[in-house]
Amino acid sequence: MKSVTLRVPATSANCGPGFDTLGLACTYYNEVTYEITEDRGFKLEVEGEGSEYLKPHGRNLAFLSFFRVWNAVHDNVRIGLKIIMKNRIPMSRGMGSSSAAIVAGLYAANCLCDNHFSKDELLNMATEIEGHPDNVAPALYGGFTISFMQGDKAHTLKIIPEKPLKFIAVVPDRKLATSLARAALPKEVPHKDAVFNSSHACLLVGALMSGKYEYIGEALEDKLHQPYRAHLIPGLYDVFAAAKKAGAYNGIISGAGSTIMAYAPIDADHEAIAQAMMAALEAKGETGVYHILDLDTEGVKEI
Ligand code: HSE
Repeated sequence: MKSVTLRVPATSANCGPGFDTLGLACTYYNEVTYEITEDRGFKLEVEGEGSEYLKPHGRNLAFLSFFRVWNAVHDNVRIGLKIIMKNRIPMSRGMGSSSAAIVAGLYAANCLCDNHFSKDELLNMATEIEGHPDNVAPALYGGFTISFMQGDKAHTLKIIPEKPLKFIAVVPDRKLATSLARAALPKEVPHKDAVFNSSHACLLVGALMSGKYEYIGEALEDKLHQPYRAHLIPGLYDVFAAAKKAGAYNGIISGAGSTIMAYAPIDADHEAIAQAMMAALEAKGETGVYHILDLDTEGVKEI
């Protein structure tokens, strides 16, 4: 029997203005064990998120992504597979749960196939399955990632900010399906909004790399997706305002939502920011939980 256990980080895509491009990995993890078994068939044990409804079948991303790698390496070697998940990353909240499942499956299979594929090859497989690279890239590489497509090939550039900063994630109990959040976006945007976003995305990367964090608050502003999704996340702008008032640089929708994430100076009162954000959310009749997080710089790894 062969097995591998790994941890895979939660991720936050878009980072404000970098729609479908920027992403970051944070210190909040799922742990997954993949075990090749003698008896054929699929088994799944889930603790935590998704334990009520995840099932062991070939359409489950954890199995599908594993066999994307396994079947590419082995011709006609039929195996049984048992997956044991300890899931902390919430589903349908913009924290990269589907990317974590995809990256875990690909990476686990690759470990069990003597690292047949490079990380860049795994990125391309993950992007094919997920549809866009902005969550799968930081789940694989860690850090902040700038992802882009060249034709149908995904690439990513990883950056580690000059100085640390903190992320306060307020995770509403209200789920938001990515498909619904993407359906809320317009097919076309005004040219001036595109210019606004390209300037702000560049500014964000520049601020992170130079350590000029006085620009981060402005750099996190967005006109490409947040204004169109705000009605799906009650209290969004109140939570942003509360975070800033309590000392954060600014807030953003994490991925497609519903999580609202504030970026904050390392020496701010992170607990006070979290409490202020939660109070603003709850004032709208919403409930949720919060996490105070750091940047994960490693991405998926065997443990
Ligand atoms: N960039 C994606 C979006 C992330 O905002 O729709 C969610 O998959």
